[in-house]
Amino acid sequence: MDEIAKSGFLFDSAFADPPYFLSNGGISVQSGRQVCVDKGDWDKSRGAEEDAAFTRRWLEALRRILKPSGTVWISGTHHNTFQVANALVGLGYKILNVIVWQKTNPPPNLSCRYFTHSTEFVIWARREERVPHYFDYDLMRELAGGQQMRDVWPLPAIGGWEKAFGKHPTQKPLSLLVRILLASTREGQWVLDPFAGSCTTGVAARLLGRRFFGIDQSAEFLSLGVKRFEQAETPAFQAEAFRRIDDLRKMPDSNMAREEPGIFFLPPPFLV
Ligand SMILES: C[S@@+](CC[C@H](N)C(=O)[O-])C[C@H]1O[C@@H](n2cnc3c(N)ncnc32)[C@H](O)[C@@H]1O
Repeated sequence: MDEIAKSGFLFDSAFADPPYFLSNGGISVQSGRQVCVDKGDWDKSRGAEEDAAFTRRWLEALRRILKPSGTVWISGTHHNTFQVANALVGLGYKILNVIVWQKTNPPPNLSCRYFTHSTEFVIWARREERVPHYFDYDLMRELAGGQQMRDVWPLPAIGGWEKAFGKHPTQKPLSLLVRILLASTREGQWVLDPFAGSCTTGVAARLLGRRFFGIDQSAEFLSLGVKRFEQAETPAFQAEAFRRIDDLRKMPDSNMAREEPGIFFLPPPFLV
């Protein structure tokens, strides 16, 4: 990001899915099997102070390459979100919303000593306190069935159809990125993802006619992203993605939806 800043280029918007610092040897369930939650060395905590300094550093670098009216979305869980919020406020960003992504198909809690973790947060913030930002209010209202869209978004976790080339350990669902880009960007605008991984943000940008710049420390993850871009060029994938995402767009926000293998459905009478 420091290199980009030297060029003077400014992005319209950014989505960041940074390390959550939750790879601490815990356990979870995947496809009915017990698995370790560790995602990789890049997700390990280096202690509260160092983690906070890292968060502040990248948010500072990002702010230098965002347009004054630009907004950024940052995903997280309780492991990193409060640290991100503190850094945002300290650096002069204005927090606009904290979206709660309610996972409609969360894995059970194996320890039975806590409530089931079933949410992630996505903070939406603007670079400047007073410069107006872009928000497609009318479209969001339409997608929410004619009511104001709320800040709780029930969306299933990533579906099998999104993993044709293998899965990044923390790949985000396309439906989440599509909603984010529709809400906060116009066609042709530039979107940055500084922790791009398998480039879900880029695939969503490609489907919606936005332009994308992704950064990641792993060439392996980025090559997965390149394969996904190639797939996103095919009319068959575009048709599949729009059909699936359109089903999700029609989900009334106040309703719980569940995911069955490959099929999203709502409880009667909203069966689709
Ligand atoms: C949570 S994942 C992002 C996943 C992505 N949203 C997707 O859908 O595939 C975070 C990514 O940040 C990358 N990363 C971690 N630390 C980094 C750093 N200091 N600089 C650049 N990338 C980093 C990791 O390689 C990982 O792919």
